[in-house]
Amino acid sequence: MKRIAIFASGSGSNFEAIVDAYNRGELNCEPALCVCDRKGAYVIERARKLNVPVIVAHPRDFEDKAAYERFLLEKLMELDIDLICLAGYMRLIGEVLLEGYGNRIINIHPSLLPAFKGAHAIKDAFDYGVKVYGVTIHFVDETLDGGKIISQGAFPYEGTDFEELESRIHKLEHQLYPKTINKIISNL
Ligand code: GAR
Repeated sequence: MKRIAIFASGSGSNFEAIVDAYNRGELNCEPALCVCDRKGAYVIERARKLNVPVIVAHPRDFEDKAAYERFLLEKLMELDIDLICLAGYMRLIGEVLLEGYGNRIINIHPSLLPAFKGAHAIKDAFDYGVKVYGVTIHFVDETLDGGKIISQGAFPYEGTDFEELESRIHKLEHQLYPKTINKIISNL
């Protein structure tokens, strides 16, 4: 069975949705590692509860970003990781990982890309008055939320309740990410 690493910086609800799909027998690969770049992030607690090995490391602890990524690359190789899935990892992927993992890094973003890139996509779209919201999963390149699109999901929303909207988007992410990982893994 192929093995994936999930990179996250925050809450980790997508991380948990992927591991839950695996535990239900609905994922065709094993979530073998969680990488977190923020000490104290809630995803670390989720990983421990779900018995997924976790590496917590920050680029600041290394000479430069390349050294940080070389450290991660070594761990990923040691653990035979086939695919990297970014799930709320709020950092651009650098040359070392892009070279090491080529077209085997994917990301989830809470908007219909290429609209509303960045860290506040849902709020930005809501403030703009968007009427159709969605989620995108794409291959990762060196740019922010850039790279070829793999899958998207969308729904109309004309309400005014931001929290309701946010939770609908996260629910869609949690359904779409495991399905998309299955598709990518079966083509590796
Ligand atoms: C998710 O909504 C994900 O799409 C977004 O961060 C959130 C992480 O939530 N990613 C980006 O905005 C990437 N630009 P989670 O930690 O609960 O999975």
